[in-house]
Amino acid sequence: MQVAGFIWFAGWPRGGARVYPQDMKVLGLETSCDETAAAIVAVTESGDSAKSISAKGVAGGGMVLGHALRSQFDEHERFGGVVPEVAARAHLDHLAPIVEAAMDEAGCGWADIDAIAATAGPGLIGGVMVGVTAAKAMALVRNLPFVAVNHLEAHALTVRLDHDVPFPYLLLLISGGHCQLLIVEGVGRYVRLGTTIDDAVGEAFDKTAKLLDLGYPGGPAVERCAVRGEAGRFDLPRPMKGRPGCDFSFSGLKTAVRQAAQTIDNGDDQAKADLAAAFQRAVADSLADRTARAASIFRERHPEGAHLVVAGGVAANAAIRAALDTVSKKAGLALVAPRPALCTDNGAMVAWAGIERLRLGLTDGLDFAARPRWPLDLTAPKAAFAGVKA
Ligand code: KG4
Ligand code: ZN
Repeated sequence: MQVAGFIWFAGWPRGGARVYPQDMKVLGLETSCDETAAAIVAVTESGDSAKSISAKGVAGGGMVLGHALRSQFDEHERFGGVVPEVAARAHLDHLAPIVEAAMDEAGCGWADIDAIAATAGPGLIGGVMVGVTAAKAMALVRNLPFVAVNHLEAHALTVRLDHDVPFPYLLLLISGGHCQLLIVEGVGRYVRLGTTIDDAVGEAFDKTAKLLDLGYPGGPAVERCAVRGEAGRFDLPRPMKGRPGCDFSFSGLKTAVRQAAQTIDNGDDQAKADLAAAFQRAVADSLADRTARAASIFRERHPEGAHLVVAGGVAANAAIRAALDTVSKKAGLALVAPRPALCTDNGAMVAWAGIERLRLGLTDGLDFAARPRWPLDLTAPKAAFAGVKA
């Protein structure tokens, strides 16, 4: 729909808080790591549209009209990890056709778009700058509002696109760059209960896949391999289990996996599957222990809160979801996760976070600078060691 009714220009170009219509279509861009993605998400408050959304099996407030995504697996595979400079150049090459493909799928022209949202941090700064600069240029040319989205906030709020999950909720954010437990009190209102003191959990999956020669990206490869494995064969540590607080650590587990991998013959597929299963079980146990502690803090602070949300790329893992399901039941919380395609990085989560902010009248000026580091809880102390983005 058109921008009729917007009074956004009153705050432009510095951004600010204004009243926005509740029906809108937003284009979201994601370029913070190794996925170039774009999506158009629509939201409507009108009864008729709400019915058509439900008919498509979408219980929450949003509908993904079109999306396109290009992973940079080929570019980074030979390095066994993401190379920032290579990633930035690939985003530059692919963003325009990706936006076009998403718009085509949505059947949208520029006249239909009400605002443009882009991941503005945290992440690999070269890629973030590509997305932010493109979004600002489109906003300027089309005279549309621009929303600078925190990538972590996008992961945190995406569940609400599909599901009716009110604030506050407890969030376990597990991805390639992050591992955090947060209370989500509202849009822009986060209380961090725990974070990793060394590596992110997705990194540990990727490293394990590399050690076992399973390919890149590691998470799905480890999960597939673990299905054939016997988790009890290798005795791996459960990092931080039973310790006070809600922090995580995965570097010790990574070392233990490396040592165990050295005892395996490269052709021994069963041993690889057993080690993958043992690793996955250790991660699931560790996440479950930390989340159970956070759940009791959450219940105490917010007796009205009813949901445990798991988000981020690692949330696609079925074994981890099963472990969290047990935790949530014990804590009296309902476990909810975005559909798997919205767990890993994508454009729809950015568009949705844009919608959540626009609904509150929040936009950003074209002077907004991309941020390599952008914690959700600004009052939380910086994580103890390097290697984490927030
Ligand atoms: O959220 P995401 O796409 O990017 C970041 O914001 O970091 O997460 C990517 C991470 C990668 O480390 C990938 O290996 C992991 O999520 N991942 C998985 C699975 N699918 C993706 N880890 C475990 N099991 C999976 N099925
Ligand atoms: Zn992510």
